[in-house]
Amino acid sequence: MKYFLDSAKIDEIREAYDTFGIDGVTTNPNHIMNSGKPFYTVIGELAEFVKEKGIEGWETFPISVEINPHLDSADDMVEMGTKIAAMSKSFVIKIPCTEAGIAAARRLEQKGIRTNLTLVFSPSQALIAAKNSSLFVSPFIGWKENSGEDCAQYIQDIVTIYENYGYIGETQIICAAVRNGKQIVDCAVAGADIVTAGLQVFKDSFYHAFTDYGLAKFQAAWDNTITD
Ligand code: E4P
Repeated sequence: MKYFLDSAKIDEIREAYDTFGIDGVTTNPNHIMNSGKPFYTVIGELAEFVKEKGIEGWETFPISVEINPHLDSADDMVEMGTKIAAMSKSFVIKIPCTEAGIAAARRLEQKGIRTNLTLVFSPSQALIAAKNSSLFVSPFIGWKENSGEDCAQYIQDIVTIYENYGYIGETQIICAAVRNGKQIVDCAVAGADIVTAGLQVFKDSFYHAFTDYGLAKFQAAWDNTITD
């Protein structure tokens, strides 16, 4: 399973890449705002980052960049998506799963610009993303679970639909807004391709109190052993 960092902060992206080897990045308008920098400055930094690391390209290190969420016509979405895509071979254009967004993603994919249909909350939305050959689909997990839904079956249903029609691998499932290790495991058990989450979510998922307990126990044993 691939791990994407959900962030637009270049220091966080560097840390995650250098320490535990993330496979890509997802951003959204919220993350860009939280970076405290202008939109085109942030995505310029991301474009430089992949060049510097020698990992440029959507096949090697994809970075999802979301278009202006106010755009409501497919023409405007295609225009902005085309402009962003020209800035880096790593950029995948993130588009909301509305009627105009579906049409724009279809047209961008036909032009060879890769897309990520986002704000997906149902298997039928995930199905249309795959039918139109988007590279990624982003079903949101955390938002649904915060409102009381269990998402294990939701992800399983999307995986099953993709298996039924040969979409597996063609449209990769990014489980988005993942909040904890249990959700990461639910997505992995269902067979999703990718999870995207914040840095602290990944760090927390690596932690276990028994690891600290065991380490302290072995340190005590080491201290009571003649080692030379
Ligand atoms: C995913 O691609 C989104 O950027 C993200 O997960 C949105 O949710 P959040 O900002 O609430 O985590």
